[in-house]
Amino acid sequence: MKTPPHKTRVCLLFGGKSGEHEVSLQSAKSIYEALDKDKYDVLLVGIDKSGKWLLGDASKYLLNATNPKLIALNKTNASVVTPVSSDGNTSLMRLEDKGQVGSIDVFFPITHGTYGEDGSLQGFLELFDVAYVGAGVLGSAVGMDKDVMKRLLRDAGIPVARYMALKKFEMSVKRLHDIAHDFGFPVFVKPANLGSSVGISKAHDENELQQAIKTAFQYDTKILIEEYVPGREIELSVLGDDGPIVSVPGEVLPQHEFYSYEAKYIDEKGAVLQIPAQLPQEIVFRLQNTAKQAFLALECSGMARVDFFVKEGGEIILNEINTLPGFTKISMYPKLWEVSGIAYSELLDRLIQLAQDRKRQKDILKRDFTI
Ligand SMILES: Nc1ncnc2c1ncn2[C@@H]1O[C@H](COP(=O)(O)OP(=O)(O)O)[C@@H](O)[C@H]1O
Ligand SMILES: [Mg+2]
Repeated sequence: MKTPPHKTRVCLLFGGKSGEHEVSLQSAKSIYEALDKDKYDVLLVGIDKSGKWLLGDASKYLLNATNPKLIALNKTNASVVTPVSSDGNTSLMRLEDKGQVGSIDVFFPITHGTYGEDGSLQGFLELFDVAYVGAGVLGSAVGMDKDVMKRLLRDAGIPVARYMALKKFEMSVKRLHDIAHDFGFPVFVKPANLGSSVGISKAHDENELQQAIKTAFQYDTKILIEEYVPGREIELSVLGDDGPIVSVPGEVLPQHEFYSYEAKYIDEKGAVLQIPAQLPQEIVFRLQNTAKQAFLALECSGMARVDFFVKEGGEIILNEINTLPGFTKISMYPKLWEVSGIAYSELLDRLIQLAQDRKRQKDILKRDFTI
């Protein structure tokens, strides 16, 4: 009898401790549904808000799965698991009875935000010597810290908005006046390490600036004061490793004063996505080249969404990179690929392949290298 070909065992990791827990559940649902079950055995591990890893059953791992406002992890009867590895094999172990669940070829973290996208989870997975999708520890960490990210981008000659980074101890009334004088109004204030526009304000006068600084310091010990950039918000998707490819650009048209948390997640009509963005070809080329350069300068791998401002005269300013962008079927990252000719399921295949290739590259490091 012929033995069936070995399916790749993928462990989808989602949820997590960040404010983007629910978005992650939606991304995971889309990914699980689209993964080709003839190619992959999929383990579903939801990380709850306290950080527990719960192995779920495909038929009931989510509650209110179709309602973005009420979607939640189903914790009933889910086993708590932890990864374990021995002799080069990584598997999951149930804590209740120490039983092991299969062996895992690739982890697919789709955990947006703090702990999931900032290198913490990536570092944890590194310890198990296993392939995982997306950026590694360094790329994830620098992609999350808007200050370090901009310094590396500037070093690569990529234009970013003028900004200053501030720690709490550096604040004073005099400092506040100086910032107001230096940056003028409006001005943006943001926590250094966060996403989803949480803690971000657009201040229009010195009173609002003071309040904005207070707000941002509730979320991080380091904040950014950033010049206001008037321009269109254009995003591109990057896929690959050393020779990444870049999608067509898409445009976000926020219906609020800026692309705030409300515009992103609360108000259903908060933003309109225009794919592809209507831009002169010359600007598209410049955006694509810069997105690729940024991906490499920031040590990314697998995927990233690169977000720009395009000013009226055509000047481009790189706003930020997201190493684990939203991944529902209607999210910008996969949508841009779909319009660029890579369908959602194929995109997943490519990301999994890239993760396995990267692991293989690392495994052969110790062998002889000939130029
Ligand atoms: N310097 C700026 N000038 C104009 N708008 C900005 C600026 N910085 C941020 N914004 C607005 O705030 C939104 C969120 O800021 P961003 O830096 O992308 O943070 P996040 O990582 O939370 O998405 C942007 O999409 C944009 O609408
Ligand atoms: Mg953003």
